[in-house]
Amino acid sequence: MSEMYTQQVMDHFTNPRNVGEIENADGVGQVGNAKCGDIMRISIKVENDVITDVKFRTFGCGAAIATSSVATEMVKGKTLDEALALTNQMVIEKLGGLPDVKIHCSVLAEEALHAAIADYKAKHGK
Ligand code: FES
Repeated sequence: MSEMYTQQVMDHFTNPRNVGEIENADGVGQVGNAKCGDIMRISIKVENDVITDVKFRTFGCGAAIATSSVATEMVKGKTLDEALALTNQMVIEKLGGLPDVKIHCSVLAEEALHAAIADYKAKHGK
């Protein structure tokens, strides 16, 4: 994998999609990165098991921002099961790769999303 950010990474880093926090979210997940200590928070809106809206906030680095931006785009409109099947590898592929030292950043979005879905399920008795 290359040592530089791809154009897609730079695009999502400089113009991230779905940044913020959903008011009255149906599920919220927050995780910290074991490797760097950075934090990621994802909130979701769910209707009939479909993620109708998703937003993220992070104090993470550029790679964390870019991977979260792509991940939110990839799960919007998807069912909870489809969203749970999303892996950081799929996100990295979509971005055309990440430098090796930045791979750990890409798990933040995946983990926070899983936490948000778990929170939704817990709150709705599923
Ligand atoms: Fe912490 Fe990238 S260095 S998320």
